[in-house]
Amino acid sequence: SKGTYEFYMLKEIDEQPGVMRKLSQDYLDVNGEPVLDQKIVDAVSEADRLYIYAAGTSYNAGLVGKEFFEKLTGIPTEVGLASEVGYHFPMLSKKPFFIFLTQSGETADSRVVLKEANKRGIPSLTLTNVQGSTLSREADYTILLEAGPEIAVASTKAYTAQLAVQVILAKAVGEKLGVKAAKDFPLKKQLALAAEGMQQIVDGKAKFDELASDYLIKSRNAFYIGRGIDYAVSLEGALKLKEVSYIQTEGFAAAELKHGTISLIEKGTPVIALINDPVTAELTRGNIREVESRGAHVISIVSHDLAQAGDTVVLPKIDYLMSAFLTVVPAQLLAYFASKNKGLDVDKPRNLAKSVTVE
Ligand code: F6R
Repeated sequence: SKGTYEFYMLKEIDEQPGVMRKLSQDYLDVNGEPVLDQKIVDAVSEADRLYIYAAGTSYNAGLVGKEFFEKLTGIPTEVGLASEVGYHFPMLSKKPFFIFLTQSGETADSRVVLKEANKRGIPSLTLTNVQGSTLSREADYTILLEAGPEIAVASTKAYTAQLAVQVILAKAVGEKLGVKAAKDFPLKKQLALAAEGMQQIVDGKAKFDELASDYLIKSRNAFYIGRGIDYAVSLEGALKLKEVSYIQTEGFAAAELKHGTISLIEKGTPVIALINDPVTAELTRGNIREVESRGAHVISIVSHDLAQAGDTVVLPKIDYLMSAFLTVVPAQLLAYFASKNKGLDVDKPRNLAKSVTVE
């Protein structure tokens, strides 16, 4: 039940620290070593390439997953939209392994890809929130997201649970393969930082209520910009904001704006800039100056270590590789408050259903 919450979406945003703790407890031992089904770890370890397929928010989680798998396992990883792959299969490596990300486990677009994979004898794993769901039954292996029922149409805690399960799997596979980066990665501590950081952010939600009212609800359009992992989170932030608030929002690789889309920036256009990557932070600061000089109103969401005077939101401390866990929460809260403050039905945006069982 919603309890004292007006909408499930906010309840589910608030539940994320607890989901992180539960996943850490269930999938990591006291020493921080992953405890996953060994058959799954072995099967993934044998692959020469990973292929992640999904739709919508789950696809956006896969874009972050690619970073986890490549950094921690050294296995090249591709991410694709299930709907684009089902009837036009990519060229595959010699030993492919398919990973399906799907909160509901029922998405028709993803099922088409899995059917074809099964026909070709490609091993597969479904990460899903729903035990016994179709994609879980039809894949060789399943890992559950353990996020608890997600009722709001806009996915929040399933996204961060997908991040967590992917990074746990990546660490397990990387360790099995003897990859130093995996052995050295203090995942249990980082997941604890994710949980604590999320808690701090949701405890400060009033700030996002204000930002949404002051800068978003009167706007026709908006942009998210970022580089690297921040680009992946920009796509998710934009999807969240547009689907529940109906403000047309695009997520952009920060440097790409100037290659055309910057012509849409007008006085007051909201640009939400995400900065967590130390390597490209200064470049994104440059992109912020470009849009500001054309009148944009910039909301900057910046990691603890890279923050400067004047930044709008400073995130709690966490490793860059884990930054999506924290960056996405302000994005979820901005979407929630933009929708609520426009008087919309946050949990049931028009034209949308919770699970999409048509192609
Ligand atoms: C957006 C959202 C959708 C789903 C997409 C895939 O908030 O919820 O984009 O992520 O329809 O659904 P699943 O993960 O159930 O396959």
